[in-house]
Amino acid sequence: MHLSLRSALPTWLFKLQDPRFKTRRAQYHTLGAGEPNKVGPNLHGIFGRKSGQAEGYSYTTANVNKGVTWDGTALFEYHENPKKYIPGTKMAFAGLKREKDRNDLVTYLKEATT
Ligand code: HEM
Repeated sequence: MHLSLRSALPTWLFKLQDPRFKTRRAQYHTLGAGEPNKVGPNLHGIFGRKSGQAEGYSYTTANVNKGVTWDGTALFEYHENPKKYIPGTKMAFAGLKREKDRNDLVTYLKEATT
């Protein structure tokens, strides 16, 4: 990842993969190819994939049945309020109310999971 992109993003985004957070925080998602599922599924290749398809991960039926193909628009909408976008999901994340944060997140995810 480019340093310029990194420095432009809020710190909380790096809870996802920054090694500095690994010892202090539980990891919810991994982003790289071949990395394991954690509390949440590995997100490598999420763009263009249907919801609920990460290999070996035990999703809620709500997440699977959503049936959305994750693209930038869907991920932008989802992260405003995940429990509203997928009622019944077990993803315990309040969401990001600011559009800029969600845009930054989608940009970051695209870079980190493709
Ligand atoms: C900005 C932070 C986060 C991002 C970008 C993110 C992204 C995602 C995405 C895209 C999915 C759907 C995966 C799929 O359909 O294959 C998902 C599911 C999930 N996430 Fe997150 N997530 C975040 C934060 C969290 C946090 C903080 C937790 C834990 C507390 C968490 C736990 C989960 C779980 C358990 C699922 C599976 C949901 C289900 O089966 O209902 N995520 N996440």
